Amino acid sequence: MSKLDKKKRRQGKVGGYTVVLLALSVVGALYTAVASPSSAQDEQPARSQSMAVEEGRDLYLSGCSTCHGLNLEGGSGGPSLIGVGESAVIFQVESGRMPLNAGLQQAPRKKVRYSTEQIDALAAYVQSNGGGPTLPAGSLTDGDLQLGGALFRTNCASCHNFAGSGGALSYGKYAPELEPANARVIYSAMQSGPESMPRYGDNQLTPEEKRSITRYVEYITAAEDPGGAGLGRLGPISEGLVVWLVGITALVALTLWIGARA
Ligand code: HEC
Ligand code: HEC
Repeated sequence: MSKLDKKKRRQGKVGGYTVVLLALSVVGALYTAVASPSSAQDEQPARSQSMAVEEGRDLYLSGCSTCHGLNLEGGSGGPSLIGVGESAVIFQVESGRMPLNAGLQQAPRKKVRYSTEQIDALAAYVQSNGGGPTLPAGSLTDGDLQLGGALFRTNCASCHNFAGSGGALSYGKYAPELEPANARVIYSAMQSGPESMPRYGDNQLTPEEKRSITRYVEYITAAEDPGGAGLGRLGPISEGLVVWLVGITALVALTLWIGARA
């Protein structure tokens, strides 16, 4: 091979690398351009905290004060919100439970009435009066899926069922299905312990454990049913029952058919 050929080959290789590098950086740039809207949310706290508190106070006075009192002190229509913290507000409002519209046994989930920004403002206002648990900054779901599963089965499944599909509790109360809950609602539910659900402070479940559970709940509630019908996701018992019924029926039909032919 001549010296010139070698040089050409090397140039060809270098050229190839350059093309690959270029292609990679174009893909990278495109990705950041496309993916940035989601990270824009994290950068929002540029809006000053005191403005949020002001806005939250206005929203509170028009939407919540009739039941919770002009100064969060509570009244005949609802409990005091002093010291319940940001998490309780995010849980109640972002799952559509609040504002409540009738004296029901247990506030049902409804269509959410406020935007995320308004919810955060309401939360900031309540938080500025007596403190309380707050949602941690950053991702709420970057925990360990395995750990989340184990913790969910020991802490939550007794009320919400292994598949998060909910169940009845005593006195007409119920643990709801978890499917509609987003990460903020799942995490704040654990922090605020609504109704008969226990409150899991950071001593009971560390933030890492809460993130793991949140990730697991999102995982199981998004899981598809590989066999078609979920059968209540109750597992082998309901599946076995269906197989048995369908199988026996088919066998009986086959036997009758054979008998009729003979
Ligand atoms: C019609 C009356 C009514 C209205 C309006 C109302 N609430 Fe409530 N709220 C209640 C009642 C009753 C409870 C307790 C029952 C429950 O938790 O299911 C409650 C509970 C709460 C809790 C849970 C407190 C705790 O100890 O964890 C929060 C937080 C809350 N409300 C926030 C709000 C906010 C914010 C608004 C306005 C957007 C609002 N509520 C509007 C009646 C009301
Ligand atoms: C003693 C029974 C009980 C246990 C244990 C329990 N919960 Fe709950 N959970 C409830 C009840 C009751 C509600 C409904 C509260 C309401 O309506 O205000 C609820 C509500 C929720 C919601 C709100 C669902 C929605 O509609 O958006 C989530 C999410 C949730 N629980 C997650 C958990 C997780 C995660 C655990 C375990 C760490 C857990 N729960 C343990 C009883 C329980």
